[in-house]
Amino acid sequence: MEVLEAQQGTYQLEDYEKMRESFDWEQTKEAFSWHRTGKVNIAYETIDRHVDEGRGNKTALLYSDAKREERYTFQDMKDKTNQAAHMFKEMGVEKGERIFIFMPRSPELYFVLLGAIKVGAVVGPLFEAFMQDAVRARLEDSEATTIVTTPDLVSRIPHDDLPALKRIIVAGEQDLPAGDIFISLDEKMKAASTDDSALEWVDLEDGFILHYTSGSTGKPKGVYHVHHAMLQHYQTAKWVLDLREDDVYWCTADPGWVTGTSYGIFGPWLNGATNVVRGGRFSPDDWYGTIDKYNVTVWYSAPTAFRMLMAAPKETLDKHDLSSLRHILSVGEPLNPEVVRWGWDVFQHRIHDTWWMTETGAMLICNYPSEPIKPGSMGRPIPGVDAAIIDDHGNELPPNEMGNLAIKAGWPSQMRKIWNNEPKFNEYFAIEGWYVSGDTAYRDEDGYFWFQGRNDDVIMTAGERVGPFEIESKLVEHPSVAEAGVIGKPDEIRGHIIKAFIALRSGEEESDELKEEIRKFIKTELAAHAVPREIEFKDKLPKTRSGKIMRRVLKAWELDEPTGDLSTMDDN
Ligand code: WT7
Repeated sequence: MEVLEAQQGTYQLEDYEKMRESFDWEQTKEAFSWHRTGKVNIAYETIDRHVDEGRGNKTALLYSDAKREERYTFQDMKDKTNQAAHMFKEMGVEKGERIFIFMPRSPELYFVLLGAIKVGAVVGPLFEAFMQDAVRARLEDSEATTIVTTPDLVSRIPHDDLPALKRIIVAGEQDLPAGDIFISLDEKMKAASTDDSALEWVDLEDGFILHYTSGSTGKPKGVYHVHHAMLQHYQTAKWVLDLREDDVYWCTADPGWVTGTSYGIFGPWLNGATNVVRGGRFSPDDWYGTIDKYNVTVWYSAPTAFRMLMAAPKETLDKHDLSSLRHILSVGEPLNPEVVRWGWDVFQHRIHDTWWMTETGAMLICNYPSEPIKPGSMGRPIPGVDAAIIDDHGNELPPNEMGNLAIKAGWPSQMRKIWNNEPKFNEYFAIEGWYVSGDTAYRDEDGYFWFQGRNDDVIMTAGERVGPFEIESKLVEHPSVAEAGVIGKPDEIRGHIIKAFIALRSGEEESDELKEEIRKFIKTELAAHAVPREIEFKDKLPKTRSGKIMRRVLKAWELDEPTGDLSTMDDN
């Protein structure tokens, strides 16, 4: 067994074993101003507290994309988020209202997101690649009243059939579409006061964010998190990201996904670090260039990105000075041992894997800079959290036996509900006292957890979580498609790619043009990241007698494996 010994150095988490024995979340509360004042708001703690404690001149945000390059101090961030808060207040936004944010990364995204939380609203970040139907499903389910967007994306917001939607706020300088529902962000922000009076104090158990994510069945689900989560954002960013105030930290995830909020906004800023945000698309030159230009010290990314960097020409790497890096981390999919070895070769740092989910709100199982790493393992649970491998009845399994990866229920950043869907929420907690993750894993003798797979049909592709059901439902809306089944097919770079098996309507001809047309259909109606990279036509698809597509059989076909028990299959 390959074990990389602990790194030399001084870290925020010095003694993992000792902390596991002695730590209590009560201790973390002391880091927050509400511990003294009783006044709670995660946005206040993230930004304003640093100003009130004399750190207003520190750089909070280093933003850049192909066109813009800007720097904001904590004082600037406080002013801008206060202006956004006033804007929402003046529009009549009330506590608990859902405000969606549908825009590519820009400083405004961060102002508006935190400004909305300041007035006690619940923000719903939407990834910019979503098309009309994906946007509609989320706005409909959450009954959002407000959405903030950009001129490029505004046409994807279907406002006619969404009765709850009152305001579409558009950033940028272009003319607004006609209609009372459209409001100019720039105008309202400019006119708004920077004073503190729009800030609302809330309860620790009040909601602040709603992240929609995919399961294997049904529509996307709204995972609801409360202000209380800040305890874990703060503490894990300290222990696992090892953040200090003088760090320049870069999380490459978009705030449309939970990594981009928990660790692209809250974790780093609760710790007063400088946060780098790079807009635009991935390219190895651009990414290495970003580390070089800002002297990034701590870097949080994903296996797919590391694998793409691994495949880039060596000259791209050699062009840049990456010596500022001192700590590198990964999340979202299994981190292959060879990627860890590559990281050591090129950066002289180990890549530290972390495991968690949208539903868990923050990191749970991690590797720590002061602790040995076993390449291929996700690491061990953070202090204050218990994880186990259990069978379907809740019995804990002995070391090295594969089973359900489960967490002892009740950690601070645990989701508090699935929006409008109590049965779905309860499914996660069906085994008394446990949250059951849907991942299969085992734990070794030393307490390290090893990921084995998902035990449902959820697809992790390039670090993004895609539900096969949403894609299948869209595919069958295409006029040529009779039936569709979607699976994840293993892929060296992306972890998995999306593969669709399609049975055409009678009279339809199979062709490459049709495959291309179907792909385009998904891209324009659903989202670019939901497009099946591979399509295979079949005369008919394997189904149960009740008519459900048997994805298990499709996977077995794909991998040339035995199809297993087919007794429920309809053989007509
Ligand atoms: C699923 C959750 C919140 C992080 C981003 C993804 C997979 C996550 C790892 C890891 C292997 C991982 C699991 C999990 N996953 N981290 N370190 N090793 N798999 O969040 O979109 O909610 O997806 O991502 O399958 O259940 P998500």
